[in-house]
Amino acid sequence: MRARPSGFLKAFGPGKVILLGEHAVVYGSTALAVPLRLGVTAFGTPSPKCSFDVPRAISGDTRARLLRAFQEAADAVGRPSVRVSLQSTLPMSMGLGSSAAVAVAVASVLLQASSGRSPSTGRVRALAGGMEVVFHGTPSGVDHACSALGLPIRFRRLAAGRTPLVRAVRLRRPLELLVAIAGQRRATRDTVSALRQRQARWPLRYRRLFQEVGRVAEEGVKAAEAGDLEALGDAMNVNHGLLAALGVSSPALDGMAGFLREAGALGAKLTGAGGDGGAVVGLFPDAGPAHKRLLRAGVSCFVSRVEASG
Ligand code: MEV
Repeated sequence: MRARPSGFLKAFGPGKVILLGEHAVVYGSTALAVPLRLGVTAFGTPSPKCSFDVPRAISGDTRARLLRAFQEAADAVGRPSVRVSLQSTLPMSMGLGSSAAVAVAVASVLLQASSGRSPSTGRVRALAGGMEVVFHGTPSGVDHACSALGLPIRFRRLAAGRTPLVRAVRLRRPLELLVAIAGQRRATRDTVSALRQRQARWPLRYRRLFQEVGRVAEEGVKAAEAGDLEALGDAMNVNHGLLAALGVSSPALDGMAGFLREAGALGAKLTGAGGDGGAVVGLFPDAGPAHKRLLRAGVSCFVSRVEASG
């Protein structure tokens, strides 16, 4: 991404991993998401015009959506006199919440520029939520809620027009996560839309699967709060199986989850939208040895630790 300008405004949006509940969360089931240390920083410099430097690496449809999302957000806050640019440490479009991280960082800079003070989390979430709609069509809201709050959250979407239930999850023990990329993937909105078509065709079967994902996620939230990492890991393994049943896994994702378990993970699953590739997350007592093995094999991966809070 672009080199950092000498900016006067700055905001960070962390990426996220969904430990439990992706896809089913779109249909009202519970999800558990945690923020990553990696993320996107937006910078704002004074400018006669409200403008956005889209990173050169972003092209095609993604670039067009990013520009449209920015224009809509800028219009919503009165087009302040600021030029916004980005820097990212997060692998983009891999299921790690990069679009939500961009939306949170950009929304925060635009709000700072228009009001002259630090915006509330609620205002950042609302503005970033509009940008996520441009990126994804029908986002549940879990990604940008986790990024805006910067905390582990239990998230549940309610009926249209109602505010989702978001609660901070107090972790009894830290979570050591190894995130590995298992190849390229299609856009989130394509995977979400293909699942929407399957569930519209066979609603009862898919509703049963979504409900089961929600139950497993609730059990996983309790396990995380009790510091029972083995139970949380088992919930992740079961959730991966349910995601495969929903048709959003692939041989590459199954293979990486299997590798992480064999390398000592208490649990491993695809994270985010999945599809043909993208990110897999493993929960480890000590991720060091597996991390080294993956790096030696040339796999793009990183360790992220989420600290205990309760
Ligand atoms: C994407 O990070 C998570 C999904 O559940 C979509 C969403 O919640 O909007 C696949």
